[in-house]
Amino acid sequence: MQHDKVLILDFGSQYTQLIARRVRELNIYSEIHPFNKIPTNIEAYKAVILSGSPNSVRGEDVLHPDLSEIRGKKPLLAVCYGAQYLAHFSGGLVGQSSTREYGRAKLSYIKEAEEFFQGISVGSQVWMSHSDTIKELPTNGVLLASTHDVANAAYKIEGEETYAIQFHPEVYHSTDGTLLLENFLVKIAQLNQDWTPDSFIEETVTSIQEKVGNDKVVLGLSGGVDSTVAAVLLHKAIGENLYCIFVNNGLLRKNEFTAVLKQYEGMGLNVKGVDATDRFMEALAGITEPEAKRKAIGRVFIEVFDDEATQLKEVKWLAQGTIYPDVIESVSATGGPSATIKSHHNVGGLPDFMKLKIVEPLRAIFKDEVRRVGATLGIDTELLGRHPFPGPGLGIRILGDITKEKVRILQEVDAIFINGLKEWKLYDKVWQAGAMLLPVNSVGVMGDERTYEKVVALRAVESTDGMTADWVNLPYEFLQKTSNDIINKVKGVNRVVYDISSKPPATIEWE
Ligand code: XMP
Repeated sequence: MQHDKVLILDFGSQYTQLIARRVRELNIYSEIHPFNKIPTNIEAYKAVILSGSPNSVRGEDVLHPDLSEIRGKKPLLAVCYGAQYLAHFSGGLVGQSSTREYGRAKLSYIKEAEEFFQGISVGSQVWMSHSDTIKELPTNGVLLASTHDVANAAYKIEGEETYAIQFHPEVYHSTDGTLLLENFLVKIAQLNQDWTPDSFIEETVTSIQEKVGNDKVVLGLSGGVDSTVAAVLLHKAIGENLYCIFVNNGLLRKNEFTAVLKQYEGMGLNVKGVDATDRFMEALAGITEPEAKRKAIGRVFIEVFDDEATQLKEVKWLAQGTIYPDVIESVSATGGPSATIKSHHNVGGLPDFMKLKIVEPLRAIFKDEVRRVGATLGIDTELLGRHPFPGPGLGIRILGDITKEKVRILQEVDAIFINGLKEWKLYDKVWQAGAMLLPVNSVGVMGDERTYEKVVALRAVESTDGMTADWVNLPYEFLQKTSNDIINKVKGVNRVVYDISSKPPATIEWE
């Protein structure tokens, strides 16, 4: 089935993915492409959205695509930088605002009887984030809306289906943002709202069947949302020809290996659990440097996975839980490559020598869509609501060298913290939580005894994608109870601290 598609041209805004997700929440399929790589099959897209950008149209580094195949030929919505871009190069004027305009604003004027603003009234809150402003509208520009500080907050071009807005409809704080996108995409551009979990499942199952045929497929399960949903989809398509491998690297959460394995078996998946704890521990002995740990864990994982996969005869495909954000080509504002802060070795990295073909059923969808698809497939909601957990597991939460005893201590601490979050109904309010075992001892007193034991740090963050994050203001009573429980119950720990750093400048994991 061919879906109506929206092309989102990315100028490097931090919100571009959010635009794509908002469009998809309207059950309309959208794709992100860099502004300087407009797809050659432009006729396949029924509408185009230009994103914002950290750049200025007045600077030397103005991002300058040729829109001649788009403008006036199909419905176009330009957001923030996009709106300035259209104004600047089409007879308008963009200048620096007298005040930088960030945050909430209210629409103070809306042109009457405009389909674009249907259902939206003066007073509606919008989210601004710009330092340039549109001083004069472009040729044939018609003012559609203003705020108190921004006279040209929205305009259209007479004679075209071109609309431009200075504010960000994709951001949650723009209260009618989704309605505005719907007005543009459904009322004006007349796209079909047929991109649903059901249609995705149906089409993906058919395409897997066509692609894979009667071949065997192997997949590494991690206990996380993506690999699980990928497995269930593949299982629906090819049944017993899907072979899943779940490796215990000895760095999983407490009881996770047995509990998750049981859950997978209950879902009818053909899964083999491989306990390779000793192999990982041997490879990690004495390693303290974070990147070296990641490399060792990644290498052993591939060895173990390969050993298992080669025992399966005639496997031709490797399935991976790759999702859309992993494959979107990003626009670098500076034009240069971004520095590697941490190498993320995810489960399922493909060793060249395995020579398997790749199948990635979730390649086109975002994490929230993976969850919706998972729910439609009947996967347990608790599993779908799980916090992300790094591939190297507790290995990068034990600072310094890793031993079985340290893993045991951290598993106990982590279990008390995570179970506490669940009991206090805080788990779903937190994007990710975990505990770090620090490589220092501190002095304490228990009864009449002096102790000299380990310090653990608890971390709970809110985030949307892990790229930026802030610490969560957990209730003091909860922290107090959790700290008491940990120190009283976990032998070897006498001090608990709570991490109150945001990302940036800190990262979520300590290593
Ligand atoms: P940082 O620490 O970079 O983490 O702020 C951002 C997100 O990525 C996860 N993370 C990893 N995931 N392999 C993974 O699969 C890794 O090596 C790795 N390092 C960090 C982290 O848990 C957070 O969700």
